[in-house]
Amino acid sequence: MEKLDQLYEGKAKKVYATADENLLIVSYKDDATAFNGLKKGTIVGKGVINNKMSNMMMQLLEKKGVPTHYVQQLSDRDTLVKKVSIVPLEVIIRNVSAGSFSKRYGVAEGITFDEPTIEFSYKNDELGDPLINEYHALALKLATKEEIELIKTYAFRVNEVLKEYFLSLGVKLIDFKLEFGKTTDGKIVLADEISPDTCRFWDAVTNEKLDKDRFRRDLGGVEAAYEEIFRRISK
Ligand code: TMP
Ligand code: ASP
Repeated sequence: MEKLDQLYEGKAKKVYATADENLLIVSYKDDATAFNGLKKGTIVGKGVINNKMSNMMMQLLEKKGVPTHYVQQLSDRDTLVKKVSIVPLEVIIRNVSAGSFSKRYGVAEGITFDEPTIEFSYKNDELGDPLINEYHALALKLATKEEIELIKTYAFRVNEVLKEYFLSLGVKLIDFKLEFGKTTDGKIVLADEISPDTCRFWDAVTNEKLDKDRFRRDLGGVEAAYEEIFRRISK
């Protein structure tokens, strides 16, 4: 399958049409942004790692009963996926306090919750992806009630699968962001990516950050963190 017209360029990926109207090719870049594009940079090799890692995670999740957009990896940076219309919700699951949760509620990072939390942001760059609840999402017609229920079920299932998987690699899954899409035949599937760009990973022993927070917070060792996560999932 070959890339035809470029349909879209996002902050971290480009999307191309293919000869099959139901399939697209996503191409992962090394570009990194944070704070709604205010901070810009390059993480050398990130595109290759995020592509391969995301595909491994999607295949694992498919096996565990979560439908995804994944079809086939084409090269180091390119993957064939089902064409979906993205549900404009960022779905965030948290196991441990960090990031905007800590900031918003004034709590330290690193407090493990009794139960995972879920929250939604309205995926809209102009508005800065504001936090919204399910009723707002319904009012804005971003998804139906049934679709939101399914998305919640899948998101918690993703958490169970990934939390256990990463712990077996000596990594704590702190939180992550998912996006879902609707296929041309109307099915809700997991889309976008699962990578150190979209998850917080802390070493289970040292609590060292092994994710994009190293870039967001200028901690150094950004590439090494992505490489370390990739090394562990490749064992
Ligand atoms: P937050 O604590 O900044 O809300 O981030 C929660 C999780 O979502 C974290 O794992 C990073 C991820 N995330 C994205 O994937 N994209 C984004 O635009 C933001 C703000 C967070
Ligand atoms: N990628 C997002 C942006 O640039 C934010 C982030 O991941 O922190 O807005």
